[in-house]
Amino acid sequence: MLKKLATGAAFALALVPAASFAAGGAGHVEDYDFSFEGPFGTYDTNQLQRGLQIYTEVCAACHGLKQVPIRTLSDEGGPNLPADQVRAYAADNFSVYDPELDEDRPAIPTDHFPENNNAGAPDLSLMAKARAGFHGPYGLGLNQMFKGMGGAEYIASLLAGYTGETKEEAGTTFYENTAFPGGWISMAPPLSDEQVEFIDGAPNDLESLSKDVSAFLMWTAEPKMMARKQAGFVGVLFLTVLSVLLYLTNKRLWAPHKGKKTS
Ligand code: HEC
Repeated sequence: MLKKLATGAAFALALVPAASFAAGGAGHVEDYDFSFEGPFGTYDTNQLQRGLQIYTEVCAACHGLKQVPIRTLSDEGGPNLPADQVRAYAADNFSVYDPELDEDRPAIPTDHFPENNNAGAPDLSLMAKARAGFHGPYGLGLNQMFKGMGGAEYIASLLAGYTGETKEEAGTTFYENTAFPGGWISMAPPLSDEQVEFIDGAPNDLESLSKDVSAFLMWTAEPKMMARKQAGFVGVLFLTVLSVLLYLTNKRLWAPHKGKKTS
């Protein structure tokens, strides 16, 4: 009886996606809205371009994106930058070691973003897929079914989640953060209000900057998300048509045995 009650309660809780359930010491993750959510969601090209700018001006000082080829910045469905801008971007921002020349040269679009782990900063290429923002309830993972994995929401919550408190431990400074599991992270708050200026005057408060760079990191982690969703939709459509045909075939095959006339 008790067990039955508990299962019932778990199910009832799962039906309330607005409430958030932090499991196992995980921090608080805000359920931000992103354009790429849902079965028909797509990346917002302008947001990805703003995110790229934030990454380049701020995060690249410590974090690499070594899995991401620079040329993909011109991908349709991604940041969609013209090829000449991508070439200029690569050359202006990064240099790579060329073993043939035995020296550094300006990056070209076919290079990947450089590796960087300054101060122990992890590579961000796949970070949005490596972190889940939503868990539970009770380890069932039902929240992920309603809200998605929440990798981008986690990163945005992390960037906007500093409380301003710090502490020293074994010579390292830790910063209190409401999203980081455990509550203390060694990354100093990288973003603040109006830190990055956009030429189109897009909002640049802390929360907007956090969301823009998180959307960009979602794209680096899953550049083909839109193609995946489209293929999924075509698959579902195909199966629906197939089901209808099978149903009609079944009717037709059994009709003589059920006393109905075939044509
Ligand atoms: C001054 C160096 C520095 C800068 C600049 C910086 N980071 Fe970090 N970042 C770090 C370090 C160090 C860690 C590892 C922190 C830890 O595990 O305690 C980290 C960790 C992270 C993590 C992983 C958190 C986790 O769950 O493990 C994310 C995501 C992240 N940074 C995003 C960003 C973004 C986005 C920017 C730019 C807006 C940025 N960082 C700028 C140093 C930096």
